[in-house]
Amino acid sequence: MDFILYEVNGAVGTITINREKALNALNSQVLDELNATLDAVDLNTVRCLILTGAGEKSFVAGADIGEMSTLTKAEGEAFGKKGNDVFRKLETFPIPVIAAVNGFALGGGCEISMSCDIRICSDNAVFGQPEVGLGITPGFGGTQRLARLVSPGMAKQLIYTARNIKAAEAYRIGLVNQVVSAEVNEAGEVVTSAKDALMAAANKMAAGIAQQAPIAVRNCKKAINEGLQVDMDKAIVIEEKLFGDCFETEDQKAGMGNFLEKDKEKKLKVVPFQNK
Ligand code: CAA
Repeated sequence: MDFILYEVNGAVGTITINREKALNALNSQVLDELNATLDAVDLNTVRCLILTGAGEKSFVAGADIGEMSTLTKAEGEAFGKKGNDVFRKLETFPIPVIAAVNGFALGGGCEISMSCDIRICSDNAVFGQPEVGLGITPGFGGTQRLARLVSPGMAKQLIYTARNIKAAEAYRIGLVNQVVSAEVNEAGEVVTSAKDALMAAANKMAAGIAQQAPIAVRNCKKAINEGLQVDMDKAIVIEEKLFGDCFETEDQKAGMGNFLEKDKEKKLKVVPFQNK
């Protein structure tokens, strides 16, 4: 892999888009490598993923403008499909994915973060869909996911005006769950950079997810994602099936058993992983 780093620490896997010289812009090779990395995640051991960009300045500054500049209509559509296919794989990945947004998240960068379950960002993050200024529409799901994540009116305003927004505004409109700042001491010196503080926060959140019953967490992701696509009558049936699916699993027996036995130590134990 030239542009993707993948490391596993316990039950948490971290994928880093590593093309810092181009602010981690997504060309075809990055997308192919990301796809292959997702295929190689060991779902028997990894329970939560973190997605981030290399360096302090940029998460992902968008799709690669150089590569796109000479595409024909058919090639443009195929490039959109390539991105959409990988982002959809991320969105429907069986385990939760946290985007740790460390700077610019523009165009395809904002779009890939929206394919993740949860977004947290450093306070230097900048979000936006600047595509109309380049003569194109957002092409990796931006018109669809931004309108679903924030209000349709706000999504339309951001997309039509190509205006970038800072972390605080992204938080205000519900695009990110948490904004993380550098830690400074009393003398005003930075003791933990914004990127390190962001990664610490992402790892803490991921570890909190990873210690829950894994089948239950996976089923929650599926229930929320699939339920949002249908009307409420169908959505609650999706929930019922996934709720029922948890019963008789080792996780459910251990989780409820620990509670009923009032065994605090046992209760704190990581619920054993049961692969289906
Ligand atoms: N594609 C290709 N290269 C990019 C890039 C991109 N999206 N974004 C940055 N780079 C490259 C620059 O060309 C530059 O390379 P060189 O050093 O070889 O010249 C390097 O990264 C550093 O960038 P800058 O010198 O521009 O850095 P800056 O600090 O002055 O500006 C920035 C940072 C505001 C993010 C600016 O780079 C920028 O505006 N980038 C483009 C952002 C953008 O428009 N993204 C949307 C792309 S379209 C898209 O994503 C479509 C889709 O939905 C699929």
